[in-house]
Amino acid sequence: MGEGRPGFFISVEGVDGSGKTTQAGLLAERLRRQGELVTLVRDPGTTRLGERVRAELLSHSEGAPPDPFAEVALFLAARIQLLHEVIEPALVEGAVVVSDRYLDSTLVYQGAGRGLDQTVLLELHRLVGADRMPDLTLVLDLPVVSAQSRSGPSLPRDRMEAEPTAYHESVRQGYLALAREFPKRIVVLPADLPLEELAGSCWSVTRERLAAGRAT
Ligand code: TYD
Repeated sequence: MGEGRPGFFISVEGVDGSGKTTQAGLLAERLRRQGELVTLVRDPGTTRLGERVRAELLSHSEGAPPDPFAEVALFLAARIQLLHEVIEPALVEGAVVVSDRYLDSTLVYQGAGRGLDQTVLLELHRLVGADRMPDLTLVLDLPVVSAQSRSGPSLPRDRMEAEPTAYHESVRQGYLALAREFPKRIVVLPADLPLEELAGSCWSVTRERLAAGRAT
């Protein structure tokens, strides 16, 4: 399994309804079938602390919504715990870590979406030692209206999903801008596709990058 191999860190990103949770799961399964040691996580979440923060962040609660920096601080708290408790130890063991969302979500949902400065957000991560970047980020890209119709109107929408369409449009544009800024790390995949076809694109990029990453 992972013994003797360097770890490899993949994040899967996209607007709500892009199918990233399904695709992260399928990718993890496929990697396991190839004999990889795989750790599948979600951000925020996975750790006890992270799951509690997630429940708070995504619920509709009475009173004022969180201040944008309070929101960042909570997402950041969940991420530091996830990184130190789960991701870093797994990478040391040589695992492939697949994370359903990661730091780019903060850059686009709190940065592009809420108007916070990306440089400040990155600096905050650096100051608290949470600036470990993925080796590969897959951005599943599709028009917001298609993503919203996939989620289905009848599903209960969490606090972030309930934001207006214009907010989700800034999130999508934020991902595309990040991909232009970090073209080596981020690969944008058209996601308005049948599930199996999208899984095939995720796999072919991962296989190639993993082989190249392990060869260095
Ligand atoms: P998500 O992981 O997409 O869960 P589900 O598939 O159950 O909807 O939901 C997490 C939400 O939190 C999503 O709307 C994006 C948002 N988010 C941020 O705003 N900032 C962050 O840093 C992260 C990780 C997520």
